[in-house]
Amino acid sequence: MDIQWYPGHMDKAQKEVQSKLKQVDVVIELADARIPRSSRNPLLETIIQDKPSVIVLTKADLADPKVTEEWKQYYRDQGIEAVDVDSKHKKGLHVIKEAALQQTERLQARWKRKGIKPRAIRAMIIGIPNVGKSTLINQWIGKKTAKIGDRPGITKNQQWLKMGKEMDLLDTPGILWPKFEDPYVGERLAATGAIKDELLDLQDIAYFIIGICQEYYPEKLLQRFGLEDKPRETSLEWFEDIGRKRGALLAGAEIDYEKAGEMVVREFRGGLLGRISLERPYDEASE
Ligand code: G4P
Repeated sequence: MDIQWYPGHMDKAQKEVQSKLKQVDVVIELADARIPRSSRNPLLETIIQDKPSVIVLTKADLADPKVTEEWKQYYRDQGIEAVDVDSKHKKGLHVIKEAALQQTERLQARWKRKGIKPRAIRAMIIGIPNVGKSTLINQWIGKKTAKIGDRPGITKNQQWLKMGKEMDLLDTPGILWPKFEDPYVGERLAATGAIKDELLDLQDIAYFIIGICQEYYPEKLLQRFGLEDKPRETSLEWFEDIGRKRGALLAGAEIDYEKAGEMVVREFRGGLLGRISLERPYDEASE
């Protein structure tokens, strides 16, 4: 499947992010825990250069916890701090601030060396659409923080949120875009719901999800759809058994692939198949 989708406003978004970046000390980059590689913007590293950053793996409640740990280790091995959160159930949010402050220790040491009066660290959240930016900001901030007015030396009319004494957070998240040209990336983004459904063939996406489950999580498919545990060679066999079991049928008892596909995708996105990761750090296909 080849998903081509490049709205014209992507360049504009990138420029906006670049200009906001000048005002912050640390970038909090969000990536979907189910597809950490595909949900990151490949240009971000070039854009942020040597600015301190933290990767936050979002929607961890939907991802395989063992694989999420592997991802965090993978990034740490590259010298990038990574944490995981489940904003839906307010889990893990407290570690974001700690991680971000830790990344700015060198900057703070420099201030001290130069006799500069310390100020709150300025942070911004960045991520592709639908990765969970607004949910995270809302849950993280709760009712504890108040908006603070314009600050000297930074663009007027931008709102900053006070995260305790040590940190201010730019309240508008930076929106970046994933790399659509790569069919693997497109497929993974589509599966998690990061691309508009009108642009997709849900049947293809369902095949992809079933393929991953067939390889790594066959027991989840058996359980969710109440299937008989028997050898199945192809994703198509799984797909057809699921369709039959759920009564997604056309006249003449033929499988209604469209309906079955939609159902698999919807249930995957809602976490009903269980906690599933679609990407692994050392999976050749996604590297
Ligand atoms: P964005 O600002 O980056 O575009 O993303 P947003 O926070 O709007 O989140 C996109 C979708 O992901 C929302 O679902 C949101 O509820 C869901 N989401 C965000 N964080 C988490 C999480 O930690 N766990 C889970 N399971 N879901 C999360 P939606 O279907 O678009 O809306 P709704 O169901 O909240 O109404």
